[in-house]
Amino acid sequence: MKIIGTGSALPEKEVTNAMLAGFLETSDEWITTRTGIRTRRLLSHETLRDLALKASLKALASSGLHPEDIDYLICSNVANSYVSPSLGSILIGKLGMQCPTFDMNGACAGLVYCLDIADAFIKTGKAHNILLVAAEQPSRFASWHDRSTCVLFGDGAAAMVLTEGEGFRDFRVTGEAHTDVMYYKRSLEPTPFDRVEEKTMPLVMEGREVFRIAVESCIRDVDTLLERNGLKGDDIDLYLLHQANLRIISCIRQHLEQPEEKFPTNIQKYGNTSSASVGILIDELSREGRLKDGMKLMLSTFGGGFVTAAALLDWSAIKYSDGEGQA
Ligand code: UT7
Repeated sequence: MKIIGTGSALPEKEVTNAMLAGFLETSDEWITTRTGIRTRRLLSHETLRDLALKASLKALASSGLHPEDIDYLICSNVANSYVSPSLGSILIGKLGMQCPTFDMNGACAGLVYCLDIADAFIKTGKAHNILLVAAEQPSRFASWHDRSTCVLFGDGAAAMVLTEGEGFRDFRVTGEAHTDVMYYKRSLEPTPFDRVEEKTMPLVMEGREVFRIAVESCIRDVDTLLERNGLKGDDIDLYLLHQANLRIISCIRQHLEQPEEKFPTNIQKYGNTSSASVGILIDELSREGRLKDGMKLMLSTFGGGFVTAAALLDWSAIKYSDGEGQA
């Protein structure tokens, strides 16, 4: 499987750390030194589906394919205002497509988890061309009275068009139950038979523990993929990691003894956009012409559960003629 088109979309509203300090007991200094985040984009007048649609249209335009060429739409999403229909179902309607679709919740590792699923679909001939969309609004999971979580997140969407080809070499996806270190609970409708009282609970996170598990699992996944493919850290041109915290990225980089230039980041501008983060990064780098033909890329992501997903691929350069990025 290879990637032949990419797109991303971010909300218009930019929220700086100083704006947060206007209503929370926090500071630009605390947020930048602990996380690297300076601003984030948050949905206000637009909707998540607007972003997902925009990212999908950009990915399709850059791939040269049309909606009718797509035979599966896979959507990575943790939560949105609809539980049913799925975001994927809404998107196929907006794109004028008729194909199977489902939403997958792999937390912040969702996009790379979905790449692994898409690869299996393409290998078995179940699908030839897949549109993969990761659309997330994590700003709505956190309580905006809880300074330890709400400052971390931003909203965004990323999309990719995938088809048969020599790109992805190997995946590693994992799951380990650490369900108490990070969770977001939504209430269900009451019934006369189930007396358990349901209450929506905004994101609960043990930051330090999540930090530790994230660093350890990312290092484990990257080392496994390198070893399994007979590669050394030096053989990888770029490491594209989940954008959760600059300090997490830095710990992983130090373990791998690799230079900073090999770890591009955009968390400074967008915060943690959950599963969309690595897709937005890929789209930006590709449009800036920083992903060259034949480059070896290592993707590594992690999220609540605890789940992780990493992938090793050889990049094929994409030509953009939709007015943005490389012509
Ligand atoms: O996609 C996966 C999602 N999650 C993550 O990846 C999160 C991983 N964890 C982290 O990134 C870090 O643990 C955080 C950025 C969340 C927190 O950084 P930390 O260095 O681990 O800080 P801490 O939680 O140990 O808190 C240190 C202090 C505490 O005060 P005391 O108890 O030392 O007086 C907090 O109350 O910082 C305080 N604090 C804040 N202060 C100002 C927590 N949040 C804030 C804030 N502004 N926004």
